[in-house]
Amino acid sequence: MATDENSKIIVRQAVLEDLDSIVRFNAAMALETEGKVLDQGKLREGVAAVFQRHGLGDYYVAEFAGRVVGQLLITTEWSDWRNSYYWWIQSVYVDADYRRSGVYRALHTFVADEAEGKGVQGLKLYVDRDNKRAQSVYADLKMNHSNYDLWEIDFESAQD
Ligand SMILES: CC(C)(COP(=O)(O)OP(=O)(O)OC[C@H]1O[C@@H](n2cnc3c(N)ncnc32)[C@H](O)[C@@H]1OP(=O)(O)O)[C@@H](O)C(=O)NCCC(=O)NCCS
Repeated sequence: MATDENSKIIVRQAVLEDLDSIVRFNAAMALETEGKVLDQGKLREGVAAVFQRHGLGDYYVAEFAGRVVGQLLITTEWSDWRNSYYWWIQSVYVDADYRRSGVYRALHTFVADEAEGKGVQGLKLYVDRDNKRAQSVYADLKMNHSNYDLWEIDFESAQD
């Protein structure tokens, strides 16, 4: 469904009432982009923690015609080199019926303006190597492909 010019996409910081949409979007994203079925209970607690625990992060949602159609999560990283914060963008998802209508562009522009206004150094995100669509979207939004590779370890005790 394309958004028409008379109806605006509104971006705002998420509130607790958005929790169900955010949980649903995260589950859909994991399935769509990584073929993963997330544990619903753990996911719900993970999302709720962002609202309950100060400093963990902030969700932002995009609304179209009164309906939540997209989201992202911002977490922060301190850079001692820059003496400033970077904002990390996570949990990017736009409802499949509302894609290619500028919903993610609206989310990105909103948080970029917000970050710049707060003196944040820049925005970063990681994306699955096979997720070519998301990569083209980020390139369209003038984000640069980093020269860094991501290295990681999940501890056995923490695995599902
Ligand atoms: C990636 C995703 C968030 C993009 O959302 P979207 O609302 O469709 O993106 P937008 O319509 O705002 O597009 C932004 C720009 O990217 C480009 N773009 C959008 N979809 C594209 C596609 N499928 N292929 C190439 N370029 C694309 C457009 O040129 C657009 O620029 P424009 O506004 O000048 O037309 C959405 O496809 C999605 O939720 N995918 C599944 C989840 C996912 O992959 N998340 C990312 C995990 S890192």
